[in-house]
Amino acid sequence: MAVILLSTLAILLLSPWIIPYALHTLSRILGSHIRSKTLSRRETLFDFTKSDLQIQGLPLPISEDGDWEKIEGCAVGSAPNGDKPDKEWKGVIGFFHPFCNAGGGGERVLWAAIRACQRRWPEAVCVVYTGDHDTAKEQIIKRVQDRFNITLHPPTLHFLYLSTRHYVLSSTYPHFTLLGQSLGSLILSLDAFTLLVPDIFIDTMGYSFALWLSKLLFPNVPTAAYVHYPTISMDMLQSLDASDDETKGKGLNAGAGVGWRGKAKKMYWHIFAWLYSHTGSTIDVVMTNSSWTQSHIRSLWGPKRSPSSHAIEVVFPPVAVEELETAIPVSAESEKDRLPHLLYIAQFRPEKNHTLIIQSFSRLLHSLPQSPSSPSSPSPSSIPSPSTIPSPSTTASTRPKLILIGSVRDDDDKKRVYKLRLLVHSLGIKEDVEFICDAKWPVVLEHLGRSSVGVNGMWNEHFGIGVVEYEASGLISVVNDSGGPRGDIVVMVEGGRTGFHASTEEEYADAFREALDLSVEEKVAMRLRARKSARRFTEEVFAGKWISHMETLVSLQMKLSPPLLPPG
Ligand SMILES: *[C@@H]1O[C@H](CO)[C@@H](O)[C@H](O)[C@H]1NC(C)=O
Ligand SMILES: *[C@@H]1O[C@H](CO)[C@@H](O)[C@H](O)[C@H]1NC(C)=O
Ligand SMILES: *[C@@H]1O[C@H](CO)[C@@H](O)[C@H](O)[C@H]1NC(C)=O
Ligand SMILES: *[C@@H]1O[C@H](CO)[C@@H](O)[C@H](O)[C@H]1NC(C)=O
Repeated sequence: MAVILLSTLAILLLSPWIIPYALHTLSRILGSHIRSKTLSRRETLFDFTKSDLQIQGLPLPISEDGDWEKIEGCAVGSAPNGDKPDKEWKGVIGFFHPFCNAGGGGERVLWAAIRACQRRWPEAVCVVYTGDHDTAKEQIIKRVQDRFNITLHPPTLHFLYLSTRHYVLSSTYPHFTLLGQSLGSLILSLDAFTLLVPDIFIDTMGYSFALWLSKLLFPNVPTAAYVHYPTISMDMLQSLDASDDETKGKGLNAGAGVGWRGKAKKMYWHIFAWLYSHTGSTIDVVMTNSSWTQSHIRSLWGPKRSPSSHAIEVVFPPVAVEELETAIPVSAESEKDRLPHLLYIAQFRPEKNHTLIIQSFSRLLHSLPQSPSSPSSPSPSSIPSPSTIPSPSTTASTRPKLILIGSVRDDDDKKRVYKLRLLVHSLGIKEDVEFICDAKWPVVLEHLGRSSVGVNGMWNEHFGIGVVEYEASGLISVVNDSGGPRGDIVVMVEGGRTGFHASTEEEYADAFREALDLSVEEKVAMRLRARKSARRFTEEVFAGKWISHMETLVSLQMKLSPPLLPPG
């Protein structure tokens, strides 16, 4: 009797250790079963690659300007020197990206990353797990070329098609959407693994649960996440707490059902946040697309990550900086072509706060010494079109102008533009503000080259690709003193400013005046510093940083499971 009691007690006491141990063992057995099932597909893939390489020529053609050297050269140094994995590494890099044909900013990152990997490891195989059944490899590659001007090397790129993508669509889960999608991503990733177990597994869409499952099943496959946006943020959790207090305080929603539901909802969020933190903490290499995302991911995943793990780092997504640099000159000479114009490129959305910008511009105008071309005399001519921009050599005008360029996507946008026009009218500055809706790229480019100042009125913008474009074009930026524009983009370069930060209408007006009042030398110097600042966001810098993180992963892979299956 005593023996039974004692052994029961012992089992109960040990169960916290036995159960996880049993689960881990089971998952590993399952993992190695899945891996052995996919070995033949792996061999086929390498066979295909080998014959394609023989037909199409070995590595990706390295352009004459030595792209390849540059990519290797600007590593940020997370892999110890002299310990760099060599060019010959021949593994399978799996990219989990169920919506790879979407053609958005997230996809640009995916393709730029794949191209960098193809250059660094010419014999490695990149595999994209996608749910886009209806599109063939050639079509996808062509679209990437057309849409992003990114040339992929077909022989070492393969697509594996997932059949369970509907499990991650938000429409599948009317309730508990986040949890549903996350659990759905487990099914989707299992689908992926049964197609092929990669040597390195990377997610660029925010499926941390999939990476967690990979680690559980295949502990020796290094994982990486490129995070664009946290699935749940600290702000959300805090706002939930706040609204809870509010309802308590006001006592309006004192009904038992509401209280109960509120509590349940709060619990759900906290459970989800816990799961998200847990899954995220198991990822080997974590990159984020901005400082804003980095700080959120740090507070969610950081505390649970092992202290020896790699730091969570920002890898800015590639922006088409090079193109603007070649199209727009910046020099004392080109300064003659610049007009004292303020340019604001942004969709006509409330958060972009065009109202504020128009009001501060009006304040600027009214503070100027009275100029001969009085603004208040109404003119019959309609809003000038971009082709009628006066050339600086023909007009002596030094009167600043505000140019608002933006896309108008729906009726709400149209109404907003109408209201802004009314505002401009009532402020008596109709002649000084130009609206350009749905401008074509050449028109935008012309204004980027001819204006003097680039404006952004949004508060707490996470990044601000538009501001990078201002800098690349040599515009002096005036941005809100918050978010990415302040923290990431309009920063000091070589001890000098690249633009101005402002918070209020007065501060914006002052910044406009300060920017326009700079001497020609100061202006050119600031434009050149702005350009330098924008260079941190080029495709080349992205590729360099990406590769340095990949080198960490490849080293890890070689350490964890040395002999790779020899190809062919
Ligand atoms: C595409 O990229 C190449 C260099 O990779 C560049 O020379 C070319 O101008 C780009 N084309 C466009 C339309 O941006
Ligand atoms: C990061 O990703 C989010 C979500 O797609 C996007 O809103 C943000 O602009 C991105 N940041 C950068 C630096 O591109
Ligand atoms: C625009 O800016 C003003 C002035 O700072 C502010 O009061 C207002 O809330 C802003 N509007 C939006 C939509 O951000
Ligand atoms: C600009 O940023 C400051 C500081 O973050 C903020 O207080 C202010 O409301 C912002 N202004 C606008 C117009 O959004």
